[in-house]
Amino acid sequence: QANGVKSGKSRNIIEKMEETGKNCVVFYGSQTGTAEDYASRLAKEGAARFGLKTMVADLEDYDFDNLDTFPADKVAFFILATYGEGEPTDNAVDFYEFIHNDDVTFASGSSAEDQALANLKYVTFGLGNNTYEHYNSMVRHVDKSLRHLGATRIGEAGEGDDGAGTMEEDYLAWKEPMWAALAEAMGLEEREAVYEPVFDITEREDLEADSDEVYLGEPNANHLQGASKGPYSQNNPYIAPIAESKELFTTPDRNCLHMEIDIAGSNLHYSTGDHIAIWPTNAGKETDRFLRVAGLLDKRHTVISVKGRDPTAKVPFPSPTTYDAVARYHMEICAPVSRQFVSQLAPFAPTDEIKAEMTKLGSDKDYFHQIVTDRFLNIAQLLEIQSKGQPWSKIPFSLFIEGLHKIQPRYYSISSSSLVQEHKIAITAVVESIHKPNAPHILKGVTTNYLLALKQKQHGDPNPDPHGLNYAITGPRNKYDGIHVPVHVRHSNFKLPSDPTKPIILVGPGTGVAPFRAFVQERAALARQGQKVGKTVLFFGCRRRDEDFLYKDEWEQYKKDLGDNFEIHTAFSREGPKKVYVQHMMRANAAEINRLLEQRAYFYVCGDAANMAREVNTILGQIIAEQRGVPESKGEEVVKAMRASNQYQEDVWS
Ligand code: 2AM
Repeated sequence: QANGVKSGKSRNIIEKMEETGKNCVVFYGSQTGTAEDYASRLAKEGAARFGLKTMVADLEDYDFDNLDTFPADKVAFFILATYGEGEPTDNAVDFYEFIHNDDVTFASGSSAEDQALANLKYVTFGLGNNTYEHYNSMVRHVDKSLRHLGATRIGEAGEGDDGAGTMEEDYLAWKEPMWAALAEAMGLEEREAVYEPVFDITEREDLEADSDEVYLGEPNANHLQGASKGPYSQNNPYIAPIAESKELFTTPDRNCLHMEIDIAGSNLHYSTGDHIAIWPTNAGKETDRFLRVAGLLDKRHTVISVKGRDPTAKVPFPSPTTYDAVARYHMEICAPVSRQFVSQLAPFAPTDEIKAEMTKLGSDKDYFHQIVTDRFLNIAQLLEIQSKGQPWSKIPFSLFIEGLHKIQPRYYSISSSSLVQEHKIAITAVVESIHKPNAPHILKGVTTNYLLALKQKQHGDPNPDPHGLNYAITGPRNKYDGIHVPVHVRHSNFKLPSDPTKPIILVGPGTGVAPFRAFVQERAALARQGQKVGKTVLFFGCRRRDEDFLYKDEWEQYKKDLGDNFEIHTAFSREGPKKVYVQHMMRANAAEINRLLEQRAYFYVCGDAANMAREVNTILGQIIAEQRGVPESKGEEVVKAMRASNQYQEDVWS
């Protein structure tokens, strides 16, 4: 679709830049919005510090077969997340397939041989996770392809690591030398950065908060008009009834929820191993805190219109809306605070003293860590402490929209089988409160506590909300009757073998057991129908058998259905003097694991990526080596080959 027109918008980036007077485009390849956020930040910083005429662009919105005509006095940034096993994000697939191809030919006929991109200056930053094997492969491949086509990279190819939790610091360390190199390459002068709001906020005296056209947290126009309809997707959630909710266990600092979400009649469908996305709401307590410290508490229900000053700036939520709705439904006000954002807020401090302290926090990495990150402060908690409760009324609201992330749905591994309950999706989630001794607040997970509040409401629990989190349970405009939650489904490649007689080995400690409850539930149902089912071996770990042993009674039922074909090996980490983990149980059953692998068993791991999944990978290599009498390096190779052929599958999170 060369220079084609799709839904009336030009897909020609060069024309678009000409028309809007831009000399810098920041493309993003983003799945959950993080790369998009970094792209916006770069565009803003380039404009403020170097007077670049920047725009941010979704890779999906443009064609690339005219990239060989990109003017030499402009620059293109590529901010690219790597997804899953080294894949491009959904919005970057077409771009990636086009550019990462040895035979790429542009519309003009030029190719690598002609150094087709000799005029193109570009900058790259990748977002990856080093617990995956294909760390940042997207940005590495794109960088290589662009160079192969003759383009010139400015600065280093940046790489941020979410696995090590250093994304923000990696980004900050990369961007300074990059800007210096870019300034030199393009002959730019750095100037005193003056803040220019990206968005105009107009308070609408002509509109009441309850008028029909005002968004109070509805994600899009269909929802606002009450005519929400499918297809449901990451842009359009389904407001699903919660059919059932219960606590699998309850201790003073942890609860585990089991919820059944009814998708009947929604056109949503899932298959065993998929993920469900939950669209969270911020707690009322934190929404109030944010509005108070921003000096907006009194006018929280004032209607505002938000518009990009520049036609290329996208408003990340629907407008007109209210301050309250933006804080409660659209911004991650409870997320970790970015150091750069703290620097940006400093000039708007209520006093010079506070300004100096904010500037110090923004520039001193270790100090910032000690005061902010390590104490889990969110932005309002930080501002409140800094100003001793005085409002920060000088901060333009636009700056909050620019600096805080757009709220993201959270993904949970579905813990039911689609064969057993096609129209009901189960989730298994631990609700945690983390209390650091030196922190002034208890850290409460946004989404899990929201779900807990829904459960408590559904059951009319006698002592709901002991921490006064005060979630809005019935949605914008108190519209959801009964207990509902906005959801969509994300399909995954984490799948049972299509042949049910194949043996499977499942490793899932804690809530990592969620998809395996679905797998075993499915196989038990097949067995009840009289089908032949292969050996199913589950390794499960938790603290104590009488505390957090998830689905303890169900496993016994499945055992009845599956007989000797189902085995569960448990590791209780806090029962004895020594930690026992699933890895220990794997070792204790090494011979059987190897025997099953030799019968082409599928191997699955779910749960914590940073430690558990990594260690399981290593142990499996060792088991294979020992059992087969080959060197450890050979064992590792076998595991690698299993991964490559999908015989080893992971569903992990950090
Ligand atoms: P612990 O909290 O007692 O250390 C579910 O969270 C279970 O996984 C718990 O029993 C937890 O033990 C255990 N666990 C913690 N770290 C682990 C690791 N690196 N590998 C395997 N299991 C781990």
